[in-house]
Amino acid sequence: MSFFKNLFSSKSNATFDLSQLEVDMHSHLIPGIDDGSPSMDHTIAMLAKFEQLGYRKVVTTPHILNDVHPNTPETILGGLADVRAEIKRLGMKIEIEAAAEYYCDESFLPIIERNEILSFGNNYVLMEFGFLSPSQYEAQALFNLQVAGYTPVIAHYERYPYYFGDFKKVDELRERNIQIQVNLNSLAGHYGPGVKKMAEQLIKNKQVDFLGTDCHRIEHLTILESHLSAPIFKHIEGLTLKNKLL
Ligand SMILES: [Fe+2]
Repeated sequence: MSFFKNLFSSKSNATFDLSQLEVDMHSHLIPGIDDGSPSMDHTIAMLAKFEQLGYRKVVTTPHILNDVHPNTPETILGGLADVRAEIKRLGMKIEIEAAAEYYCDESFLPIIERNEILSFGNNYVLMEFGFLSPSQYEAQALFNLQVAGYTPVIAHYERYPYYFGDFKKVDELRERNIQIQVNLNSLAGHYGPGVKKMAEQLIKNKQVDFLGTDCHRIEHLTILESHLSAPIFKHIEGLTLKNKLL
């Protein structure tokens, strides 16, 4: 019986085991402060799902986006304390830390200047660009972060259409110790075929430093879970990722 059960089990050897990553470093789990979790109940449901998928820790990264999501270390760390208290009350095992996802526009430079940065791990700073055109502040922000002693991590690098297919630029960035993060759901096709193709090529080229869920709501985790048997996930095992070092 168990032979047939194993043979036909949906948890076959071909299914990628997310517990190998150990730590997720891109999500929006602090309730009510960005376009992610709307309430503590949603946050706890997402954290329970992370735990079920095998993660031991999440570094959650609320948006800091000028007037749209005007977060500060105070709003983020205050929210983190509330989430930690609820995790403790419920006896959950998963650990949670917080950093931020900085939008790279003119408002980012003064934040670096004032050193109001929330970093994670080895002084990593998660930053994102707009999806329509390159940020005119990209080079300056990367430079200023590094001068201030931080290591930039570019969020969901595969989602910027203006960088599709330019793998030489990726090499140049990584040679300068700028890290590349890819969203796991890009491999699931969640953001469309162009993004999927770029993500797959970055993985096959071994040009990826971090993988993240970019979880805004629980569906992001259930969609991911339902795609873990896709062949591209096998290639993750050939990468040297920094997730588990966090
Ligand atoms: Fe994000």
